[in-house]
Amino acid sequence: MKEIIPRPQSVIEAKKGGTFDMAKVDALDVDAKFALTTPVITSILEEGLGRKLPKEGKNVLKIGFAAELAPQSYRIETDENGIGIVAGDAAGALYAVQTLRVGTMMGTPQKNTLVPCGKVNDYPRYRWRGILLDEARHFFGEEEVKKLLDVMCMHKLNVLHWHLTDDQGWRIEIKKYPLLTEVGSSRPCSQIHGWLSTDVDDVPVSGYYTQEKIKEIVAYAAERGISVIPEIDMPAHLAAAMAAYPWLGCRELKRDPHYYFGGRIPTSQGVKDWNRSACIGKPSTMEFIKGVIDEICELFPAPYFHIGGDEAPKDEWKNCPACQELIRSLGLRNEKQLQGWFINEVAKYVRSKGRRLIGWNEVLEGDILDNDVVVQYWTPRRDPKVIKHVRKGGSVVISKHKYFYFDMPYAQYPLRNTYMFNPYFEGFISMYDNNVKGIEGTLWTEWISTPSKLEFQLFPRMEALAEVSWYGGPKNFKKFLGRLREYMPLLDMYGLNYAKEEIYRQPNPFTRVKTIRTWYGGNENVEYEKNDNKH
Ligand code: ACM
Ligand code: ZN
Repeated sequence: MKEIIPRPQSVIEAKKGGTFDMAKVDALDVDAKFALTTPVITSILEEGLGRKLPKEGKNVLKIGFAAELAPQSYRIETDENGIGIVAGDAAGALYAVQTLRVGTMMGTPQKNTLVPCGKVNDYPRYRWRGILLDEARHFFGEEEVKKLLDVMCMHKLNVLHWHLTDDQGWRIEIKKYPLLTEVGSSRPCSQIHGWLSTDVDDVPVSGYYTQEKIKEIVAYAAERGISVIPEIDMPAHLAAAMAAYPWLGCRELKRDPHYYFGGRIPTSQGVKDWNRSACIGKPSTMEFIKGVIDEICELFPAPYFHIGGDEAPKDEWKNCPACQELIRSLGLRNEKQLQGWFINEVAKYVRSKGRRLIGWNEVLEGDILDNDVVVQYWTPRRDPKVIKHVRKGGSVVISKHKYFYFDMPYAQYPLRNTYMFNPYFEGFISMYDNNVKGIEGTLWTEWISTPSKLEFQLFPRMEALAEVSWYGGPKNFKKFLGRLREYMPLLDMYGLNYAKEEIYRQPNPFTRVKTIRTWYGGNENVEYEKNDNKH
């Protein structure tokens, strides 16, 4: 077998050697406990082997349940007569089959179905291995999302963090508030030429998911062992909702969803209108938020609800009578605590629905955060409050900028950054291992408007993410690059547009600075244009 990505925890080949040829498998018997993933297990094997696999035959591949194995874990034992698999749950069973498929390159022209005799014993380093997909800035749609879910499953990733709302678009139908999508899902154009530019294109952006479509995609993900966690960003990054319902703001400004992403926003309309925070002082805001959460919880069975909570400006709250009155009546010290109080209120509400809240690390700002709230650590600067949260027993998901912001240019954050990630570098010493729930790579899409560029930014970073979040063991970057080269046919099988090696490897310092300057100075496609884009 090829060395697979992500690497299994333990592979022991039999001393006497020998192989079993997967091509001989003519039947598949999966334990009834694994019903959720059985259709996908079956289709991977049937497509890979090129034939139907009934339950009975001469060479049965049996996938059984083993109570002693933890969730997501599995074992494979191979001898010359066949292969036996046991798993701890439906996801583990699926991962076992992915290991066989990737190890034999099944489905690619490079396939070699000989499995060496021996034992694989595998389980994840982190429970939460995720990708954030931002469909608010640009909308990619069902087909691309399903493709990503298929590939995430091959990489043993198990969380899709779906960023569905932001200043530039609201992408999920909420029946109680229909204007969210009628008004909030369309904008006439988008900022181009990087963060510092004031240029816009002339391409309208629109699109959203109906509730029916959301349910279908969530079910599709579940069959692949993937939990979909919705993010409805608040109290800031809410301009698309404020375009639909201006009463959500402290000042009732009539504004369109934004088409600037940041940087030097023109203020011709006389007020700062980018990334405003919703008014927390007016009861109608909390009523709105509860109404949205009610519908979201019906659509997403995941045990988490992501509130965002990042980059919330406090300036309007300072001048708003309703917000100031609330601060006074609650005995809060300042606007930062108002943010903290708001997050805790939403945490209470989602808890009443059996969900747990997660938010970006700014939710710690007011120093009053409920310790039950999971913190997602992203900020480029070090945030000592995150370590404090963990010391008090709180949980984190790590998405630190320099390793896991996959929207950034490769020149700035080459593949090596992601691969070399070690939680210790960020202050998570081993005594906090249990508090680190997992790792997530983020794909923000301010500068990504096509599936092709989305894939270019993501691959092969997803492989490095899988390696650090599933395997998490000793590293050898040079060997990893070699393994990646052999892995690429599996990405070709999905028709993915991945970055070429000269782009994702660390460039020389001169090229590096030049590329970063070009990227920020007006051409955010400088690397993408150098790749031979397939679609
Ligand atoms: C973030 O990048 N504002 C979470
Ligand atoms: Zn207010």
